[in-house]
Amino acid sequence: MSLGSSPESCVISWVSSSEPNPDVQFYNSTESDSNTGSAYFAEVQMSSSSSIGYASLYTENRCGTTRLMSSVYIEDCSDLSNGYKVRNLQTTSGSGSKKTPVNSFSDLFCGRVPSASSTSSISSIALVADMSDYMFSPGEYVSSIPSMTDAATNGEIDLVIHGGDISYDIDDDCGRRGDGFMNAIQQLSTTVPYIFGVGDHEGGRKDLNVDCHAPSSGYDYEGFRMRVGEATNAGQMIMAHASGSPTSFYFSFDVGFVHFVVINTNAWIHACQYWMLKPQMMWMEADLNSVDREKTPWVVVIAHRAIYCVKNDDSECTTESEAMRYGLPEAAYKKNINIGEWIGEVKGHDNVFGIEPVLGKYKVDLVFGGHTHHYERSYPSYDGVSVQKDYVNPKGTVFVVGGIAGVGEDAFEEEYADFTAWRDETYRESWGHLKANMTHAVWTQRLANDGGALDEFTISRE
Ligand SMILES: [Fe+2]
Repeated sequence: MSLGSSPESCVISWVSSSEPNPDVQFYNSTESDSNTGSAYFAEVQMSSSSSIGYASLYTENRCGTTRLMSSVYIEDCSDLSNGYKVRNLQTTSGSGSKKTPVNSFSDLFCGRVPSASSTSSISSIALVADMSDYMFSPGEYVSSIPSMTDAATNGEIDLVIHGGDISYDIDDDCGRRGDGFMNAIQQLSTTVPYIFGVGDHEGGRKDLNVDCHAPSSGYDYEGFRMRVGEATNAGQMIMAHASGSPTSFYFSFDVGFVHFVVINTNAWIHACQYWMLKPQMMWMEADLNSVDREKTPWVVVIAHRAIYCVKNDDSECTTESEAMRYGLPEAAYKKNINIGEWIGEVKGHDNVFGIEPVLGKYKVDLVFGGHTHHYERSYPSYDGVSVQKDYVNPKGTVFVVGGIAGVGEDAFEEEYADFTAWRDETYRESWGHLKANMTHAVWTQRLANDGGALDEFTISRE
């Protein structure tokens, strides 16, 4: 389940791996609902009505495996709480608009969108990054999926945001790794909306992007785009379009008191995606400029790669973080040098597309990311250092790294930085739980194994 274009609306999407009937021609729109051909459709049946949407065939590039991708936009999602199920339909040539089932109904689900569930005056959101259900060896780690599923079922959370690195990797094993992950989150993602941001592990096939000046690091994001992005002109696209974005790589939405902005941080790292920086930053500035802080007092940015972190001496928490923070050195940008291969300081050049001036200008409260596999949080910070050592009326942005929701750890090999407030050196798998009202935003980092609190802090405005 994803969000739609209004607080009451949503989009239900699913993938059927059953081989579609080769005799049925596909038309990517309901326009084909006529005598001129045949088409696949998607149906969500609720207790008192049903909605029809798109279904499209997706043939995966690397292996040629075919899946049926379905997406249904629902204007009023309040009825989902009375139970709903899904299936695919088809029309065949000459049969007019008569739709016949392709597959049987799914299990019965019970879902809710945040607006329909807000019985209290608190917005409650789960935030994760770097999470899989697949393990290369048994017991390799504890995934946060069961704990978050319990929280959604119990009404503790209204929505999940997964900020990149989905299933390690969504495209692997001809996409079957992605299928397995979607099955693993099914109970969770059918109960509350589940929003995906893109990480570096959604790259897909790396030799196709014709826009790339450095083909070896080109990305096509195939599985991500097909499953949750753009293939069916639905998925997350309706929400993205509603926020003025042309793509599901960057978009924004509101949940109660919080305005969330999701961005693609790979655009700062890989030369082949530098072209995306300008449109993304122009959109982001316009989006942040339009936020009504009376309505949504909190602004949270979801950025897969950490803008502030501590790890070791590789480029993730040094050159790469700084390139996002201060912008790319113009020479790296113009010569299409991957920032991980940039030699020398980042700051102090003629930097372009730095995110921190934008975070400061629009008073972004919190940035959540992952990529480095551990939990750490900063004090309110700016320009590489903390600006205060508490969270009362912060004059900087707080950076939370939670890239350990279901994956093995990255050890801290460096000491605390000036901006570091706390970090979990036991590397227990965990997920973020943000609860916000008009004046207080409480972040609880909850353990994957039992949902208990690993860490908690409160940002307050007085
Ligand atoms: Fe990552």
